[in-house]
Amino acid sequence: MFMLKRMRPVPFTQVFFAGLLFSAASLNAVSAQADSAANRPTPMGKALDGSMIIQFAPNIFPNGQGLPSGIGLAQNGAGLYQAQCASCHGKKGEGGTAQELIGGDGPLSAPDADKTIRTYWPFATTLFDTIARSMPPAAPGHLSADALYSLCAYLLAENGLWGWEQPMGPKELAAIVMPNHNGFIRKFP
Ligand code: HEC
Repeated sequence: MFMLKRMRPVPFTQVFFAGLLFSAASLNAVSAQADSAANRPTPMGKALDGSMIIQFAPNIFPNGQGLPSGIGLAQNGAGLYQAQCASCHGKKGEGGTAQELIGGDGPLSAPDADKTIRTYWPFATTLFDTIARSMPPAAPGHLSADALYSLCAYLLAENGLWGWEQPMGPKELAAIVMPNHNGFIRKFP
């Protein structure tokens, strides 16, 4: 007849020490792995040099500090916009798969307020910073300073906040007073 053999209970101390031994062994394995990883060349990508770090992490402040030198025109921005931005933001900046960049009306106090660059953003410099850092999403950080000023000039001109003929550079961008500039409680100057 088949009989289940009763298992002998394993004393707690044996389990405990086995556990300690196991974790010590795995710790050794982890540190050995870390040592060899440190000595291996990075398998992908390449180290960023100083100029690239600046390109990817520009520190542009609301008052314009950190803006690179350059010059742009709304007309040039219009072409760049159609080529690189319209597919997501709409041909006229009216929005598509991504936010509208041109337009926006109505009071911000409304429950369904339309928070756009024109109605909501307190600083024009944020536009440069946003585009420089993150747009277009497939190739962020690749637009030249002139292209960025042209795109800002175009978007601001279409929003009625800049002239089509006016060249835009760092000083001009920083001097723009956005319609909702005073709509925020400022914690820092
Ligand atoms: C592949 C689609 C795509 C393309 C192309 C693209 N964007 Fe965007 N953009 C987005 C998305 C998605 C967001 C929202 C990102 C988020 O909220 O984190 C965005 C956000 C923005 C914003 C912030 C809008 C807001 O109200 O917060 C600006 C400004 C902007 N894009 C400008 C541009 C410009 C200028 C270009 C062309 C150089 C461009 N984008 C190209 C998808 C795109």
